[in-house]
Amino acid sequence: MKIEALAKVNFTLEVLGRRPDGYHELRSVVLPVTLSDILEIEESSGIESDTGYGEGDLAVKAARALAEFARVKAGAKIHIDKRIPVGGGLGGGSADAAATLVALNEIWGLGLSREELSRLGASVGSDVPSLVMGGAVLMEGRGERVKPISSPEINLVIANPGVNSSTREVYSRCVPVVRRQSSSQLMVDALADNDLPAVSDCLVNDLQESAISLYPAISRLTEEIRSMGAQGVLMSGSGSSVFGVFEAREDAIKAAEALREKNFRAWHCRTLASQCSSIA
Ligand code: C5P
Repeated sequence: MKIEALAKVNFTLEVLGRRPDGYHELRSVVLPVTLSDILEIEESSGIESDTGYGEGDLAVKAARALAEFARVKAGAKIHIDKRIPVGGGLGGGSADAAATLVALNEIWGLGLSREELSRLGASVGSDVPSLVMGGAVLMEGRGERVKPISSPEINLVIANPGVNSSTREVYSRCVPVVRRQSSSQLMVDALADNDLPAVSDCLVNDLQESAISLYPAISRLTEEIRSMGAQGVLMSGSGSSVFGVFEAREDAIKAAEALREKNFRAWHCRTLASQCSSIA
């Protein structure tokens, strides 16, 4: 089976506090984007992949977790055509894990719901539950609580400064922020209203400052994208990728071309439109 694993961007990432287990309490609006890895998964005797990531391979971890949960004896061979930058804050490894759960649920004929797969994904990584849902979500807790939200299609340029960001390091340096009003709730409303200026105004990432202190190249890239006329610019996740929001598709395409000329890895892509009847 061939399956596309979509990357994500965080339009908000609020760090609310440090938890006793070492993780952080988050609130984040997570949107899947049209930048993807391609997975080919077939049934096999053991569980293996060709990524060479060893124990850090989240797709293998997800397959093992699912086999154990569903008590299946079957295995899987996973081939990944990697296009999402690694250590880039775009959830590449988590997207592969989420796609593996969805595909093996079908290949092994398990009949589990997205919600069940999402819960199982939490044991694999904090970003996996949101990516299993396959649409825009408001993510809370450590990442395990996800609610679908409505979102329009939005043109983006995503670029990477060529730095492999350490999620653990970035979190350990960040200072939780106390706000009177949740930026994520404002973002949920702005997306539901398809109000791009309001969306651009609500972009916030509490990890950006600590990531920039470790990797100053993120700050330079942010300024580059801003100078190309983006309505809003933000680092995604724990970095190092940065995205810019554009009203017009052609402007996002031009920005991606200009960034590539400056030797950044850059893509024009868009968020997936999601329809949700109840607003989170
Ligand atoms: O869950 P995951 O393995 O993706 O998390 C990677 C690292 O990111 C954790 O070890 C932790 O340092 C940090 N993290 C955190 N709080 C979260 C999610 C991740 O501190 N909610």
